Amino acid sequence: MDKKIPLTIDGKEVEAAAGQTILEVAREQGVYIPTLCYMEGTTNVGACRICVVEVEGARSLVASCCTPINPGMVIKTNTSRVRAAQRLVVELLWASGNHDCLTCEKNGDCDLQNLVYWLEIEKPRFRIEPPGYQPETNNSMIQRDLNKCILCGRCVRACNEIQVNEILDFAQRGSHAKVGPAFDADYINSQCYFCGECVEACPVGAITFKQARFKGRPWEIRKVKTTCTYCGVGCQLDLNIHDGKIIKVTGNRDSNEPNAGSLCVKGRFGLDFVSHPDRLKTPLIRKDKKGELEEASWDEALKFVAKKFQDIKKKHGADALAGLASARCTNEENYLFQKFMRVAVGTNNVDHCARL
Ligand code: FES
Repeated sequence: MDKKIPLTIDGKEVEAAAGQTILEVAREQGVYIPTLCYMEGTTNVGACRICVVEVEGARSLVASCCTPINPGMVIKTNTSRVRAAQRLVVELLWASGNHDCLTCEKNGDCDLQNLVYWLEIEKPRFRIEPPGYQPETNNSMIQRDLNKCILCGRCVRACNEIQVNEILDFAQRGSHAKVGPAFDADYINSQCYFCGECVEACPVGAITFKQARFKGRPWEIRKVKTTCTYCGVGCQLDLNIHDGKIIKVTGNRDSNEPNAGSLCVKGRFGLDFVSHPDRLKTPLIRKDKKGELEEASWDEALKFVAKKFQDIKKKHGADALAGLASARCTNEENYLFQKFMRVAVGTNNVDHCARL
């Protein structure tokens, strides 16, 4: 059996597993410690220092997200010293960026905004010139505004450790430090795959879904869990719906399998076809000699296709026909389709669009 480590957290004696961090134990015990740079499943970098706590005997406050527990540790998470340090961090972050919540897409779902409120900060004591970056708007999927970036590095770890795309990293130093692709390129001019993992990792409004801009506030959005229709992996995703329309897609992190909340570019950004005005809602047939497409009923369309199949088969044989199945169908539907082609039509010419 794993050895248990006794320790005290906010006056409560608890036991925890060896190797756990103070933050992990606190969360298990229902003790709230705020975090910004911490992201489950990635390296603990201890960059933001918002998660500091007091440990008896320690020379300074320690970052709970990357400090392992020791036997007999006495931890305090809510002293005035801890709160003063957290306020300082939040005030500096607030003052050093252009955190204009009125127009920010993350308003209502922003970790920095929540911390300002939680720490009851009316306004920062400091005035620092925002960096003055030009927001990046030259692609249709992701909008970046480095004026809102808090340099927590979550997007970097999401890109490198979760998706292993290795596109994002830190560049420059000190007040010029920033995150981005190599050679300071825009996303569209880099090797970025547009998986959108960085958007979901960003705790503030620095990286946001462009398609969702001004389409609905976080509290107006209804999430519907579903399975991605693009391929056979079966990724679990949340359709973010407002006014009956999908405005963005986020990974569903409730279940670990099969995608653990991550998505690819198709699942993440390719669902606007659902309400696209060009989407076909009824079969179309070229009925007359002019060759114009006209709306038809399903009965009419299926009879028309069956007749054409029979004519071709009679004239050229069954191997003149081929069937292309879809990755958007279920396994069962695809099974039936190939069975239909082999048994009813009489050909083995069956393929699949999974290489979409
Ligand atoms: Fe621990 Fe940032 S959350 S240092």
